[in-house]
Amino acid sequence: MPDIRGSIHGQWSSRFVFILAAVGSAVGLGNIWKFPYITGENGGGAFVVVYLICIALIGVPIMMAEILIGRRGRQSPINTMHALVADEKAHPAWRWLGWLGVLTGFLILSYYSVIAGWALAYVFRAGAGLFAGANAESVSTLFGALLDSPESMLAWHTIFMVMTMAVVARGVRSGLERAVTILMPALFALLVVLVLYALYAGDFARGAAFLFNPDFDKVFQHCELLESGVKSCRFSGEPLLIALGHAFFTLSLGMGAIMVYGSYMPGNASIARATLTIVAADTAAALLAGLAIFPIVFANGLEPASGPGLIFQTLPIAFGAMPGGQVFGTLFFVLLVFAAWTSAISLIEPAVAWLVENRGMARVPAALAVGAPAWVLGVGSVLSFNLWSGESFQFFGKTWFDLVDYLTANILLPLGGLLIALFAGWVMSRAASRGELRMGDGVGYRTWRFLVRYVSPWLVVIVFLNAIGLI
Ligand code: PFF
Ligand code: NA
Repeated sequence: MPDIRGSIHGQWSSRFVFILAAVGSAVGLGNIWKFPYITGENGGGAFVVVYLICIALIGVPIMMAEILIGRRGRQSPINTMHALVADEKAHPAWRWLGWLGVLTGFLILSYYSVIAGWALAYVFRAGAGLFAGANAESVSTLFGALLDSPESMLAWHTIFMVMTMAVVARGVRSGLERAVTILMPALFALLVVLVLYALYAGDFARGAAFLFNPDFDKVFQHCELLESGVKSCRFSGEPLLIALGHAFFTLSLGMGAIMVYGSYMPGNASIARATLTIVAADTAAALLAGLAIFPIVFANGLEPASGPGLIFQTLPIAFGAMPGGQVFGTLFFVLLVFAAWTSAISLIEPAVAWLVENRGMARVPAALAVGAPAWVLGVGSVLSFNLWSGESFQFFGKTWFDLVDYLTANILLPLGGLLIALFAGWVMSRAASRGELRMGDGVGYRTWRFLVRYVSPWLVVIVFLNAIGLI
């Protein structure tokens, strides 16, 4: 089928480039920074099992839905939704879905850039040899010094945001295609080196057991020691919601990032095959990161639940002790910054693409118009780790950073994903989705349609209701 709507942003030169760009979007801080720390906070194995189930039953079908919607619309998510609403004679309210995604991406970018700034700072710390002979205490002091300095965190946040805007301003093709091919495989190679090091020097047995031995009671029973000295336990649905939210976050789903990349995808490429490749790469990166980090955590008597600083307080110990650690450490943080960069670009792209299409803006002012306000919001996240960490700056019992993270990852992304599943499964005609997926009418297509109509949406709804205590 010929492409009816040509994209004004250009098309990827091949299906391989689409996969690279989507992997670039998916693999990022979510895998290496967030996955280990939320797994640590939520008790390990059972959380990982729930997360993997969410990836398979929700992530895979919804990623296919997002790519097919994007490729059919061939524009920014906002305009794609407009076009498909017209094609399918759907209710006009569906158009809001594009806007929801733009808002979500903007909010995520604001704090994503702050954490990427930490990684940037660590490139120079590693390069300066600051990790040599590090132990649990010294790395925690080093990390604390970064958090205690709003000025330096702000500077790194600014540099990263400028880097992101610079690439987006240059346009998709010239900005992205080349670098991903070399640097993504290099990141995987370094993760493997770290896992091998953990195998040799860490408490690998305990780390792997923590990651893969599910203890469902430990994760889902929320226990408190009452004043009377009695331990009271009840079921908590919160870890389920966090696992679900992270499945969306890590795969870049539910906000139009994958949709916008899908809109640049050549018409003859297989969406199912691309999806499986992206999901496999993303999952592998997360599990490798976990296998690298937890053996070091246990070997050094660190706390798995130590929060967002986890990788910054464990990996330097490994780099400080391994041969060639200064080089490996520097390289690792360079590649982490790069992975975060390719993800940040996809966070800002839906909004920029829309400004270019609808406001006739050039890419440079469009990138500034989105990046600058996201930078301002990010200042709230910078301060959440120092000046605003106290009680008086809490919103619903959370710091600004925690609030934006919770709202986006655990509420807005699953909500966006739910609506995408409903749109692709219930609103789009069979002919439209089948034609775009190009997989005939066999088991593959029927399984996808069943999942996207009945399984993924219900699971999201059940987890939501569960987390707010309704079921
Ligand atoms: N998937 C990215 C990560 O795991 O770091 C984060 C992300 C990028 C989320 C793009 C959402 C998105 F649209
Ligand atoms: Na990811």
